[in-house]
Amino acid sequence: MKALFICDEKEEWNLLRNIFHAHFSKMELVCVLKGEDALNTLTFDGPFGMIILECGIKSDNPTELAESIFDQTGPRPLLFVGTPTMVKDRVKEAFFNEHEMVTIYNKPYQAEGLVSSIQDAIEWAKQEEFESNIVELEPDNFLPLKLRNFYLYDSVPFDVYVELTKTKFIKAIAANKKYTQSNIQDFQKRNIKYLYLEKNEHLNFLENSIKKISMALAQSSGDFKKKSQTMVAGVLVLHQYLRDVGISESVKELTDRIIKAMSDVAEYHTSIEDLILTFPMEHGDLAEQAVLKGTLGMYITKAMGWRSDLTNNKIGLAAILHDAFLEREEWSTITYEDHPDLDYLSPEQKEAFLFHPKRAAEMANQFSHLAEVDFIILEHHELPDGNGFPRGINASKITKISALFILVNNYIIQLVINGLTSSSLKNISLAFATIYNVGSFKEPFQTLQKDLKRR
Ligand SMILES: [Fe+2]
Repeated sequence: MKALFICDEKEEWNLLRNIFHAHFSKMELVCVLKGEDALNTLTFDGPFGMIILECGIKSDNPTELAESIFDQTGPRPLLFVGTPTMVKDRVKEAFFNEHEMVTIYNKPYQAEGLVSSIQDAIEWAKQEEFESNIVELEPDNFLPLKLRNFYLYDSVPFDVYVELTKTKFIKAIAANKKYTQSNIQDFQKRNIKYLYLEKNEHLNFLENSIKKISMALAQSSGDFKKKSQTMVAGVLVLHQYLRDVGISESVKELTDRIIKAMSDVAEYHTSIEDLILTFPMEHGDLAEQAVLKGTLGMYITKAMGWRSDLTNNKIGLAAILHDAFLEREEWSTITYEDHPDLDYLSPEQKEAFLFHPKRAAEMANQFSHLAEVDFIILEHHELPDGNGFPRGINASKITKISALFILVNNYIIQLVINGLTSSSLKNISLAFATIYNVGSFKEPFQTLQKDLKRR
């Protein structure tokens, strides 16, 4: 457990540090000078079991600071320390009375009394943490949801958990409690990728998200960055829904809206460089890749003079679905069957990986009667020299639309690996010249190359 001490007298830091060292050696004490630092520390270095706030602090009003802290982290044990006069002047009685876990320690410091006040606060924190937050749950009743989905909301009507062990979960977000974007970023910094919710709630969450994103896309205006972010949120939730539940009418509707938005974005841009470098890529994950691949694919078809709603629908659906069944994000950059990263997977995982184009192609058939989409998806890991998978067909056997999608797929993967910069755009295209300037790949590749040279 960590404790935070907010005080602008550094001599007092040493005093508290000595006390913690001698009496609470398992706890880490973090000391900060002012309120702003405290709020940042709570966000980025948390969680903190308790907070000690020195009431003489010049930069902030201690009660207001305590209120901001509770707004941000939720109420937690907080000990105001100060001379009786300072406490009387600066700690609002109403705030003190409202929160059971807020206590006061009157200076001057005396080791024994201070230790026992800190001890009480720690007990409070422990009790809180263990009694109400850590729970043993039946894992079968809970399903993971990618953390990023939670950026869509600022509160959810059910409890959300982080997995500690296979059967132990800790409550991360309480039902109906407001959370902020930075709370979610905080989980991300702790490398937490999934939050868990009860099965029924999980389904409700996904369905609500689908509706919400569909509506946002239907109303979205000319802000193309925002539109791309909404599409990414949409693909994220679609992938999860398709894996856990399957196809529904609302899934089809959202898919159509995303495809339409991709084509609007492709139409809006006048160069590939512009399209890619303005894309809001934050994580390089499957959802972001899907949206960028769809948009770039549509842009190239337009530049080749192929542009039609039918082609855009095929490219868009292929982009959304092709990697929907990749179990792990990190597999998205494996592009051929002998890739060294595959050696780290178990035989079952390797099989699941090699099978992902087939599963997605089957899903595409349930989606629409658009001819070829299943083939485009099935073939998205084929390569011009025949060294791809699953079938190992080469540039002369691959159709032009599949070739275009394969090119786009591998181009975006390389960009994700190397970073979305002007120089990677050109370097990757240069490296691709020896691979893709052949057979069905020739026209899409030369279109890409020519567009990049224009700049
Ligand atoms: Fe793939």
